[in-house]
Amino acid sequence: MWHETWGEVLSSREVAPGVTKMVVLAPGAVEGLRPGQFFHVRWQESSAPFLRRPLSAFSADKQSGTLGLLFRVVGKGTAAMARIMPGSPLSLLGPLGNGWPAPRSEHAILLGGGIGVAPLVMAASEYADAGVDVQFLLGAASASDLLALDEIRATGARLAIATDDGTAGHHGFVTSLLPAAMSAAPAGKTVVLACGPGPMLRAVQRACGDAALECFVSLEQRMGCGVGACLGCAVKAQAPGSQYKKVCTDGPVFDARTVVIEDV
Ligand SMILES: Cc1cc2nc3c(=O)[nH]c(=O)nc-3n(C[C@H](O)[C@H](O)[C@H](O)COP(=O)(O)OP(=O)(O)OC[C@H]3O[C@@H](n4cnc5c(N)ncnc54)[C@H](O)[C@@H]3O)c2cc1C
Ligand code: FES
Repeated sequence: MWHETWGEVLSSREVAPGVTKMVVLAPGAVEGLRPGQFFHVRWQESSAPFLRRPLSAFSADKQSGTLGLLFRVVGKGTAAMARIMPGSPLSLLGPLGNGWPAPRSEHAILLGGGIGVAPLVMAASEYADAGVDVQFLLGAASASDLLALDEIRATGARLAIATDDGTAGHHGFVTSLLPAAMSAAPAGKTVVLACGPGPMLRAVQRACGDAALECFVSLEQRMGCGVGACLGCAVKAQAPGSQYKKVCTDGPVFDARTVVIEDV
């Protein structure tokens, strides 16, 4: 069940151009947290920006009570967050959303495009710890934009890299690594988890549909309340009869067969 916790920022640093990793002391927030869930974050009481911003749990250490966030500066909210100094308070509403499905397959293929890696690293840990063979396909525009390399390696997942400009790993989109990964992971024994930009997720959705592979996508959407009350985060459903789904409460993780993936 979600609640509001005030945490204390322990550290905050730029780990790649325009991307900040923040560690927050917030024991109340990490208790019961599942990989793939998110927090609706506010950092200054009663001042701009008024709305909270949704950010995935990137890491969590229940013993020390710390929560890791990894975010890209795209607008005024995330820019303000990147300026927060250690020692500052941070309001965390959550944990929110459903999170990734619990591990139950023999193989898992995780695809993270750009900042879409953020909600996947905890899943890689949980799946590898449960004995699942995890292949992590990581993509970015360029070598300097690759995120969370150390954290992914620490999970024990097998890592393959693709960059759009060929400066590291395979030269091309991360989805071009999928056919080789799929050939080593049979349908019926494999689950695919993906987070990233809309075009990437649509390519994953198509490829998994064609190969009859179970696939879950984590969607990003602009949010208002974050708790199911405002309909601000609705996405189109594929199932007849239920026309929209709320990313904040029905998601952010969806079976890829059930949603229409659009660009935010
Ligand atoms: C469940 C969930 C988890 C997320 N996790 C992360 C994360 O771990 N790390 C991270 O960097 N980002 C994450 N995002 C996206 C993040 O919430 C937005 O980038 C952020 O809210 C933008 O706020 P802003 O004030 O900086 O930008 P704004 O000034 O509000 O907007 C700037 C640009 O960002 C786009 N944008 C705004 N809000 C969102 C949004 N919610 N989703 C996608 N694009 C948006 C706008 O269309 C616009 O182009 C997540 C989004 C969701 C829904
Ligand atoms: S953000 Fe308000 S219903 Fe989802």
